[in-house]
Amino acid sequence: MSHERVVLRELFRGDLVGKTVTVKGWVRSVRKSKKISFVVLNDGTTFDNLQIVVDAGLNNYEEIASMLMGTSISAVGKLVRSEGRGQNVEMQADNISIIGPVDMSYPLQKKATSLEYLREQAHLRVRTNTFGAIFRIRHGMAMATHEFFNKRGFFYLNAPIITAQDGEGAGEMFKVTMLNLNNLPQKENGEIDYSKDYFGKETSLTVTGQLEAECFAMGLGAVYTFGPTFRSENSNTARHLSEFWMIEPEVAFADLEDVARLATDYIKHLIGHVLEHHAGELEFLVKNYCEDRPDHIEMLKSVRDREFIKITYTEAIDILNKSGQKFSFPTDWGCELQSEHERFLTEKHFLAPTIVTDYPKKCKAFYMKQNPDGQTVRAMDILVPGVGEIVGGSQREDNLEKLQERLRELSMKEEDYWWYLELRKYGSVPHAGFGLGFERALMYVTGMSNVRDVIPFPRTPKSAEF
Ligand code: 4AD
Ligand code: MG
Repeated sequence: MSHERVVLRELFRGDLVGKTVTVKGWVRSVRKSKKISFVVLNDGTTFDNLQIVVDAGLNNYEEIASMLMGTSISAVGKLVRSEGRGQNVEMQADNISIIGPVDMSYPLQKKATSLEYLREQAHLRVRTNTFGAIFRIRHGMAMATHEFFNKRGFFYLNAPIITAQDGEGAGEMFKVTMLNLNNLPQKENGEIDYSKDYFGKETSLTVTGQLEAECFAMGLGAVYTFGPTFRSENSNTARHLSEFWMIEPEVAFADLEDVARLATDYIKHLIGHVLEHHAGELEFLVKNYCEDRPDHIEMLKSVRDREFIKITYTEAIDILNKSGQKFSFPTDWGCELQSEHERFLTEKHFLAPTIVTDYPKKCKAFYMKQNPDGQTVRAMDILVPGVGEIVGGSQREDNLEKLQERLRELSMKEEDYWWYLELRKYGSVPHAGFGLGFERALMYVTGMSNVRDVIPFPRTPKSAEF
């Protein structure tokens, strides 16, 4: 008789009926009566719960039948076929012991489960059906990411987190310093003297691994990063985080078309993976959180199986202007595409993921390849219904003079980017890449509508409790 612990994921998979096993987990509920009680257990390894039937003959029956939700236990018993709904196996307990009790103050009571409330319980929320499902899907999509790029011959690059360059040139970096903030060393002209700081220069948390990925693509051919990135943009929205995870592939000898194809295939792969491996979890989330989009899963299947729409920025502006729709922000050529415009394109006009290319250069970062028209750059954003932009990418400017000129136009210091410029000096090649916001992709696939609910411990302006 083996009493080794069996996790529920394996228990429901294997044919263990008739065997006596040990399970460990957290109690979801107890239904108590005089002669018999039913304990519902989950251990986090799967969405499904195990029902444990407890006979009043157990010597600690009163204690077990009075357990509160959240109690951690170890249970030994025989697995039998179950007549009831749900899983077709249940346990007849021989012995149950409490590992860690809870009291009435346990914050995850059955009724108190709004997403807003659970955000304030980020240390415990993973014990709920909802967040268990979300974070198992998150794991699945991370593994599917490595699988996808590895299969295509990309090398995984760990880009640095602490950097001295603003990789987007947008000035949204969190500073990293060991200087005494109450007594900052100053240069003669009154500026802060960063030569006295830990790294001997001004440093920040990275906003992108792209510049380093470009270096590595120039040596390894094709690489991808998958790491945390940080932005101090002060946008308190349902899709902005101050710390988020980004996947950034970078490919040598490639142009915008190549990486648009790559991004499309990658997104389809993520969707396919979740549909195949997390169907039950996805169904649960859709049933509970997509009241307004009951066809979410059908939608994902159709996205997986069809081509994405592809238009230029100029065509997008044209569609917006001819739509007859009233927008709050201007839609003149040269204006940024605002969230309302992106939503119109994907949710009203195309009803599908849309790749928008060739934006005006003033809307985009310094490193993008300039088109011969002198006005636009070889950029792409991938927009999806419900979320907006999930991918931003471009072909990179591989011409040294043009890149130098662009830095000057934007009053950026050439010396700060000396090594990045050298990539264009020594064996420069056309190359391109993109960044996919991992949490944005998770929102899109799971149908969750707030980015704070798809990252374990969200960081947003004025919020870093956990
Ligand atoms: O469009 P972004 O700023 O592009 C870059 O960072 C490029 N360096 C990528 C590249 O070409 N290698 O960001 C890429 C994606 C966005 O499309 C969005 O999905 C996500 O990152 N993102 C955010 N996600 C959550 N919170 C934020 N504050 C985000 N900012 C960008
Ligand atoms: Mg972008």
